[in-house]
Parts: sequence; structure tokens; C-alpha cells
Amino acid sequence: MEWSWGFVFWSFTAMLLSFLFLQFNRQRSSNNLYQKLPPGPRGWPVFGSMFELGNEPHKTLMCLKQKYGPVVWLKLGSINTMAILSAEAAAELFKNHDVAFAERSVTEVMKSHGYNKGSLALAPYGTYWRIMKRIMTVQMLVNKRINGTVEIRRKCIDDLIEWIENREMNSSDGIHVAKFVFLASFNMLGKLLLSRELVDPKSDKGSEFFTAMMGLMECSGKQNVVDVFPWLRWLDPQGLRRKMDRGLGKTIEIVSGFLKERFEESERTGEKKKDFLEVLLEYEGKGKDEPEKISDQELILIILEIFFAGSETTSSSIEWAVTELLCNPEAMYKVKSELSDVVGDTKKFNEANIDSLKYLQAVIKETLRLHPPIPFLVPRKAIQETEFMGYHIPKDTQIFVNAWAIGRDPKCWKDPLDFKPERFLESNIEYRGQNFEFIPFGAGRRICAGIPLAHRVLHLVLGSLLHEFDWEIDISVLDEALDTQDRMGVTVRKLKPLKAIPKKKNKTR
Ligand code: HEM
Repeated sequence: MEWSWGFVFWSFTAMLLSFLFLQFNRQRSSNNLYQKLPPGPRGWPVFGSMFELGNEPHKTLMCLKQKYGPVVWLKLGSINTMAILSAEAAAELFKNHDVAFAERSVTEVMKSHGYNKGSLALAPYGTYWRIMKRIMTVQMLVNKRINGTVEIRRKCIDDLIEWIENREMNSSDGIHVAKFVFLASFNMLGKLLLSRELVDPKSDKGSEFFTAMMGLMECSGKQNVVDVFPWLRWLDPQGLRRKMDRGLGKTIEIVSGFLKERFEESERTGEKKKDFLEVLLEYEGKGKDEPEKISDQELILIILEIFFAGSETTSSSIEWAVTELLCNPEAMYKVKSELSDVVGDTKKFNEANIDSLKYLQAVIKETLRLHPPIPFLVPRKAIQETEFMGYHIPKDTQIFVNAWAIGRDPKCWKDPLDFKPERFLESNIEYRGQNFEFIPFGAGRRICAGIPLAHRVLHLVLGSLLHEFDWEIDISVLDEALDTQDRMGVTVRKLKPLKAIPKKKNKTR
């Protein structure tokens, strides 16, 4: 998340007004409200701890654990917030209080055009969420359907390799790894979901839809004063909601054009595509409370959701994986040797190889342990007042489960800050929500719906990049490239983007 002067200015203005309001309220509520809350920093009047959290709140909160323990209470502006900082506390939350905390805390910009109601990730816990989660996890993003689309992903990877090869000729200081992977993931999702090419396969240039989505992602990653002082909503002081309304409106128009074309085409040809959109179109609600069909508006929002959820998470993870491997030459050597042995130097990496590539799997896990792209998961919210680990958690409290801090907890991990894929060769720890010390995809009812697809794509992209190219860093940008600081946006990304030099391996195929 980016701080801006506008944000700071409006926060101060909000402080003055809130201060008066708070003084008035405190008299009435202090006796019982603060009694059984978890411990935490006192924070400033009105602002609470919002400024202390800084630009890397996952790191700041990790440090609070030493002083306050694994469950920390904070006020962020006027928002009650509970941070979960240990695997035990996460296990308690997901095993014993999953329903009580199954609501989502939604930022102001994500309420634009009713996005939070149509999106599965943000939808209120209820019938619509249940139907969508079932469609996604039982019909859409399941191994059987994913297996039927191997060729599509293969073609996208071939395009990615070609883009990089073309750049390789012209660039001596390296390529922006995350940018290329983002384009490839985006195009892959376009083909799997809509059977559309959204990035020009020849020129690595995005379509109008691609540009519109980039704008939305940027806007949704910005820090907004309204999220900590919701009563400023009417003023929209930073103009972010207005910007999102315009951008999202335009994007909805584009996707609605895609849908129109699809309806016309299937009427003309009578044919059905095998993409994910077809699964949504074929839905027929039979159960009690279920709608007969998914409405066009819901279809559009779910389509946008999949691009939101699947593109930046993948590119950020791959950028970290390549960075960590460049910082750890021994791990790089091991993963490349395994690729050579299992795939063979004269063959292309393919998805059928993944199960046999144990070290590559360990590299992906180790990357997600140290750099989960969504460090607080998608924040949850208390549906009702709840007793949690001896504390009283008020209704509507926002919950940050700090997967980033848990992945680095010395109580769970030996040498937690070292990149050691080997630790996963010696254990059965998986990222499917059963091992609470390792939850990059979350856990419980609201666990990521895209794990089977993300699993394939992460291994396929990283495996192919390492199998096709040797990666180097220009000495003049070495420190910057290998720097492991991060920044918050839609996901946590590397602060200084990785630029690495690809050297095509000599292979005769
Ligand atoms: C590296 C890749 C990915 C990571 C690390 C990731 C991570 C996450 C996390 C942390 C959550 C919140 C879980 C919770 O609150 O417990 C989530 C939710 C979700 N993810 Fe992913 N994700 C990835 C890829 C994908 C992909 C490829 C898709 C779809 C194509 C997807 C779809 C979703 C959806 C729909 C939800 C909302 C689930 C719900 O609220 O019930 N994700 N993801």
C-alpha cells in the first residue's frame, strides 16, 4: 500500500473531528469494552496504531508478538483489529471459530459497482458465497477440468519463452521478470476462462481489458483514509472511490461485450466451449434458496475476480522464487540438476513432470513460506461477538491472520529466515490449509479456491523459466536485484523489481 500526502492530510482532518466524538463515547463505554480485549499497543488518540504499522504492516505486527503475545489488539483509526501471529492461534481460529470469523472486511473501493457482493473472495458468508465456492471448487478449478486444458497452458508458456528470447537479444541489463510472468499468467487466465487472447502473443502487449485491469489493481492497492474512518465515505477525500467507479465501470463494459459475443457465437454455431465461463453459464440452481441462473452482472464480477486473484499472486511468487534462487546458488544448482535429470535437456518441461520434481516443489513451498503474496490472507471479520482464546472479540472486528509472520516463526521453523527448500523434503507439510504453520493460501471455509490451478501454474512457469534459461544478474544492479525488501499493494511484491538476464540454454529438440 502506498502512503500519500492526501492520505496523511485527510487523516489529520479526520482526527480532529473524531477526537471530539471519541471523548464523548469513551465516557460511556470504557468500563466494559476494553476489559477482555487481547493485549496490544495503546496507539494514538483517534488514529490508534495506523501510522505505527507503516508500509510493511506484516513486519511491524510480527515484532509486536514479542511484547504482546500471539493475539494482538489494535485500533486502526476507528476500526477494531485483531492480529493472529502464531500457528497455534491460527489453528484455534480456523478449527474452532471459522464460522464466527467467516465474514470479510471489505475496503471502500471494493464496494464499487457492488463488486464485494458478486466476488467470491469478498462476498458475505451466505448462500451466494456457498454456491460460487461450490462451482469453483467442485466444477471449475478441479483437476479433471484443469487436465483438459494442458495444451492452453503449454501455448502460453511457449509465448512467454518467445517474448523473453526476443528481449534477450536486445537487453544487456536484464528483463523485468515479474512483468513477463504477469503477462503470461493474465493471458493464460484469459484463455482458460474466456477462450480469448488478452495479450498479443507476438508482441507482449496487453489488450484494452488488460490495461483496464491494471488500473483497477493499482487503485485497489492504495491506502485509503476512508477504510480507517468510514464516516468520511461521503467525501471520498482521495478520490479513490470515484476513480474505481470509473475504472470498474469501463471494465464491466468490456467484459459485458465479451459475454455478448459469446452468446451470439453460441447461438450461431450451436457449439459450447470447454472454458471456465461455460461452467458458469451451465449452472442451474436446484436447491432451496438457489437462484435459477447466475445473472450477467454476477458473471462479469466473477470473471474479474479470477483475474484479480490469479495474476499478480502468481507473478509475485515467481519473482521471489527466482530472486531467492539467485541469492542461493546451491539451491539453484540443485533445482536445475533435477530438471535436467527428470525432464531431460532436450525436452520441454511439461505438467506431467511436476509430481516427480520434488526439489522444485520444495522451492515453490519455501518461496511461499518466506513470501506469501497475501501476507494477512484476505482479511476476515467477526460475524458476531465471540469468545476467542479467553478474549472477548466484538462483532465486526477485522482479523489479520499474519501468514508472513507465522511462516517465519522460530517456534515452527529452524533457521526461519534462511531459504532452505530441503526442509520440505524432510516433512509432509502442505499448503492446503491443514498445516497452520504454513498457510499461504489461507485455511478453513474461506481458503483459496484456486489452489489446484495455482499449484500447476507456479510449477510450470518456474520450471520452464529455469529449464529454458540460465539466469544472471548484471553486476551494476546486483544489490538492487537481490534485495529482499518488499512493499504492500494488491499483493506483497519485491520493493525493487527483479531484473535478471536470461541466457538461452543450447538444446537441440
Ligand atoms: C500463488 C497463487 C495464489 C495465492 C498465494 C492465493 C492466496 C489466497 C489467499 C491467502 C486467499 C484467502 C484465504 C483465506 O482467507 O483463508 C485466497 C482466496 C481466494 N483465492 Fe487465491 N491465491 C492464489 C491463486 C489463486 C487463483 C489462481 C485463483 C483462481 C483462479 C484464486 C482464487 C481465489 C478465490 C476465489 C478466493 C476466495 C475464497 C473465499 O473467500 O472463499 N486464487 N487466495
